Amino acid sequence: MSTDLERLFPNASEIPDAYRLDGSLEQREYLINGELVEWTGELAPVRSPVCLRRDNGELEQCLIGSTPLLNAEAALGALDSAVRAYDLGQGAWPTMTVSERIRHVEIFLNKMKQQREAVVRLLMWEIGKNLPDSEKEFDRTCDYISDTINALKALDRRSSRFENEQGTLGQIRRVPLGVALCMGPYNYPLNETFTTLIPALIMGNTVVFKPAKFGVLLIRPLLEAFRDSFPPGVINIIYGRGRDTVSALMESGKIDVFAFIGTNKGASDLKKLHPRPHRLRAALGLDAKNPGIVLPEVDLDNAVEECVTGALSFNGQRCTALKILFVHRSQVDDFLARFNDKLATLKAGMPWEPGVKLTPLPEPGKADFLTTMVEDACSKGARVVNEGGGSTVGTFFYPALLYPVSSQMRIYNEEQFGPIIPVVPYDDLDEVIDYIRTSDFGQQASLFGSDPKQMARMIDACANQVGRINLNAQCQRGPDTFPFTGRKNSAEGTLSVHDALRVFSIRTLVATKDNAASKALVGSIIRDRESSFLSTDYIF
Ligand code: G3H
Repeated sequence: MSTDLERLFPNASEIPDAYRLDGSLEQREYLINGELVEWTGELAPVRSPVCLRRDNGELEQCLIGSTPLLNAEAALGALDSAVRAYDLGQGAWPTMTVSERIRHVEIFLNKMKQQREAVVRLLMWEIGKNLPDSEKEFDRTCDYISDTINALKALDRRSSRFENEQGTLGQIRRVPLGVALCMGPYNYPLNETFTTLIPALIMGNTVVFKPAKFGVLLIRPLLEAFRDSFPPGVINIIYGRGRDTVSALMESGKIDVFAFIGTNKGASDLKKLHPRPHRLRAALGLDAKNPGIVLPEVDLDNAVEECVTGALSFNGQRCTALKILFVHRSQVDDFLARFNDKLATLKAGMPWEPGVKLTPLPEPGKADFLTTMVEDACSKGARVVNEGGGSTVGTFFYPALLYPVSSQMRIYNEEQFGPIIPVVPYDDLDEVIDYIRTSDFGQQASLFGSDPKQMARMIDACANQVGRINLNAQCQRGPDTFPFTGRKNSAEGTLSVHDALRVFSIRTLVATKDNAASKALVGSIIRDRESSFLSTDYIF
């Protein structure tokens, strides 16, 4: 198997012209106060998960470029720029009309679409995401921005009328919260980041955005679009180690909204640095260990199909991936055999190769970490049941189907965020329910079964434990109009196209007594367009 895997990595001449990078990409610019500023300090190397095979057969991880390693002072400069642009709520951006802000975001979206090819190529090189999924990530992000614009128009239309309750007239609108810090994850460095960044901006907040730890260079083609689409200081983009940059931002107490997708430990450590936690709003997408549960009566073909994609799309590096499978003992042998057959059909290779599903991993040391998890399980009674499972070459780890997994093993509770599929046999549904109840995580679960009574029992058992219960389907975030949330250590707040607009804003209302004098006053303000808040303008 390892010989096969070594052939997986290309030599330099085998990379198709369409997907080559033009030399090394050294980035020194970062965006602050509407300008691309050149960083003259240290740079961080950017290594691709893709390795190249030399003539002597050795593998070498590709160094594809570098990004600025800003220090605390530079990060605080970006924060000052955002604070000035917000100007305690009196800046041009937070006081701008909704339709004007929408126009800026539309300009950005048009410019962004022109960078599709460059961003997609970098998604493949920086995080190893295959071509169709990289294209999907880009297109889904553009759709999310359009949907956000439409959702805001609908929200604003509802807010443009007055309510009359118990003799009080009121107009209720959503207004920004202040300065937002947005940080995304490496597995969806564009999409997940923009699902907080765009709502934060469009609601009138000013933003400091720090790209994920991998998938950093792919923001570079968008810097001019950001610079040219928004007023100075509204969006500032910084780079560098979190401990040097983000810690200083949080310690300053000037961040009003913290949007973060990453580990619960990282989120807690950063939140604790804020000197006035009661003034900090947070939108967090965190760790997960979503279980797939195969009931005794089940359409096994469908269950296997969904579990394979649920556990292995983008090599299991999705927060929503199925990270542990509970299979009823009456079905487990059949399940493992079919899973194995399906797994063996998944093509491994470079992200740009047609039909490739399994690709190298971007995190340094990830293959070693996964190997340690497999060894731990095997030392406690599990075995790898697929041919070649757990083989590694360079940055590539071939998926390991582990069985039988039990509660003493690390893989039972720890999130692998990679291609290990632990299978736990069970006899009684109470064993599974107990796992879900006592788990530290509570994002989603998938139930596979056909018996209405058993399914209903499991739905009710999961309802107060997780944010979404999927029936005969893998776990997933989409459609993006559905609420995406989690409990326990898995999330804080709810994101969806609709919810995100609420997360990054607060309702403020103007209220007055329902009498002739008040109506005359309000009528006059509206008629003469004296206020941008108190207005009945309808956005078409
Ligand atoms: O990594 C977490 C993502 O939000 C998952 O999104 O289910 O669409 O892959 P997805």
